[in-house]
Amino acid sequence: MKRICVLPGDGIGPEVIEAAVTVLQAATDELEIEYAEIGGAAYDKTGSYLPDETMDIMRASDSCLFGAVTTPPTLDYDSPVLRFRKELELFANVRPIRSIIRQPTRPPIDAVIVRENSEGLYTQNEVFDDEGVTTLRKVTRKGCERIVGFAIDYAHAHDRKRITCVHKSNVLRASDGLFVDVFRQVAESKGKGLAFDDQLVDSAAMKLVTSPSSFDVIVTLNLYGDILSDVAAGVAGGLGFAPSGNIGKKHSVFEPAHGSAPDIAGSDVANPTAAILAGAMMLEHLGMTEPATAIRDSVSSVYGSGHLTVDVGGRHGTKSFAEHVASMVADSRQ
Ligand code: IPM
Ligand code: MG
Repeated sequence: MKRICVLPGDGIGPEVIEAAVTVLQAATDELEIEYAEIGGAAYDKTGSYLPDETMDIMRASDSCLFGAVTTPPTLDYDSPVLRFRKELELFANVRPIRSIIRQPTRPPIDAVIVRENSEGLYTQNEVFDDEGVTTLRKVTRKGCERIVGFAIDYAHAHDRKRITCVHKSNVLRASDGLFVDVFRQVAESKGKGLAFDDQLVDSAAMKLVTSPSSFDVIVTLNLYGDILSDVAAGVAGGLGFAPSGNIGKKHSVFEPAHGSAPDIAGSDVANPTAAILAGAMMLEHLGMTEPATAIRDSVSSVYGSGHLTVDVGGRHGTKSFAEHVASMVADSRQ
């Protein structure tokens, strides 16, 4: 049995997570699920967006599945997402983006963005002064080595062939320059059998849209990875198709890359695909390859047989889409 902490959160979080849990339970009997509070509901009850009790459950679990939280507009807000990434040392954010549906106006994409998840501009080191605000951005050699090493291991384990380092070293010559230098060194020492190249982030953003098939694995710094993963999701049909995994040496938290979308919350129109695929990533991370593959194959088959979700012009709501996937997953176990 694997112990999983499930954190539905705010907005559409609870709906897409319920869908994902339905599918996970159809795929395996090996999960012991414990729910925990995060986000607005947790704040209303406990005065914290991420109560210590939740952190304890997350720490004690084999992995976690998280929905989304709504960010309030206050300046002193301490993001629970950034907090669990930091406290659980989830230094890598893995975002596979694959076209599942055929879209006549967009080229197919099958790429994985490996995003540095612990430093860069996300250290939130911002200082007010008379002129405005100065923000410090942290890029460490250790952080670069760790994420590039992770990307190489990921590529080897997932039969990927090429890693592209995405940066802006023509302007950020010292910090992004360090990242590219480390990339080349680690590639040289650990990257046997893989192809390596690098690209400036602005040009990479354009190419993700115009020729996405030129990418395989992308390794990049925190903010670039945040932005590029939304661009890539857009190419694949929208944020409803983008799962992600926050991964560290000891802990892991899987989540759909989308937010809490409060405008559509509670109306059963959110696309649960990203959450369902995040569940599959979690199983794979836990070594449960067979049910993970069954989930992925079933999602593709459900779309392939014309059952489209509302966000891509279909009529399937969150629940009915998840039920289709769950029943196909269950059939595959017969
Ligand atoms: C994401 C989100 C987060 C990020 C926010 C919610 C802090 O946009 O996971 O991509 O910027 O990393
Ligand atoms: Mg984002």
